Amino acid sequence: MKEAFFRGWLEYFEWNSEEPDTFPWQAREALSPLESMRIAKSIAAFQLGENSEGSALLKFAQSYGDRMGFAVLPLVTAFFVQEERNHSGLLGRFMDKHGIPKRQSEWTDTVFRAMRKPFGFEVSNSVLITAELISLVYYRALREATSSRLLRALCNKILEDEKSHVEYEAALIRFAQAGCGRPRAWVWRQGQRVLYAGTLAVVFLEHRQVLAPGGYRWKAFWSAGWKEFDRAFPVSAAEVAYRNGSKVEAFRWR
Ligand SMILES: [Fe+2]
Ligand SMILES: [Fe+2]
Repeated sequence: MKEAFFRGWLEYFEWNSEEPDTFPWQAREALSPLESMRIAKSIAAFQLGENSEGSALLKFAQSYGDRMGFAVLPLVTAFFVQEERNHSGLLGRFMDKHGIPKRQSEWTDTVFRAMRKPFGFEVSNSVLITAELISLVYYRALREATSSRLLRALCNKILEDEKSHVEYEAALIRFAQAGCGRPRAWVWRQGQRVLYAGTLAVVFLEHRQVLAPGGYRWKAFWSAGWKEFDRAFPVSAAEVAYRNGSKVEAFRWR
């Protein structure tokens, strides 16, 4: 992985941050009591989850960047954190418009934050991507479950951003796994799969009121989740890379 990789992403984040706000904030719409009841708690949890100062991640990025010679990594990470905070801001504004109360804490958010804290940049990314991959399914469900034109537009915007986040983080993780030796990479990948499976189950239980009307009952949710996972971490690509003895170059991701 080269500095050019991060320069490319810096360019992307800069470009994306300049996108004008064209969301239909003034749209005349009212949520039915049933819809409000279904989405309020769930959307509040995601609004909270998206809202992180990212101080631990920024610190990790600084030391990882120093160690690996990626000078631009802290800046890329700052843009990344800002983009997540923007999602939180957009959801928060929607919630204000519709009188949906915010949450100050939520147990899954607390667990996820705690899991990222004690480890370095690479593991932190593995935990992060778990949430990112699942959010790809969640926001699709939310978009289908709501009658709000505004919320649908916000879901589309967040989905676009999250697709890029997944692409970026998956490349970082594959790079780290390729460089840490086969046994460790195997353990890492299995750990990631276990964490992912458990998180899928928890997210379904916590958010089924949005997921089911959005078209994702348990089976559909489980398989959509794994489809996203396998797309980000194709087993065959990893195997081919190891067999050839090549590392990063084999993981052409863009
Ligand atoms: Fe996000
Ligand atoms: Fe994200």
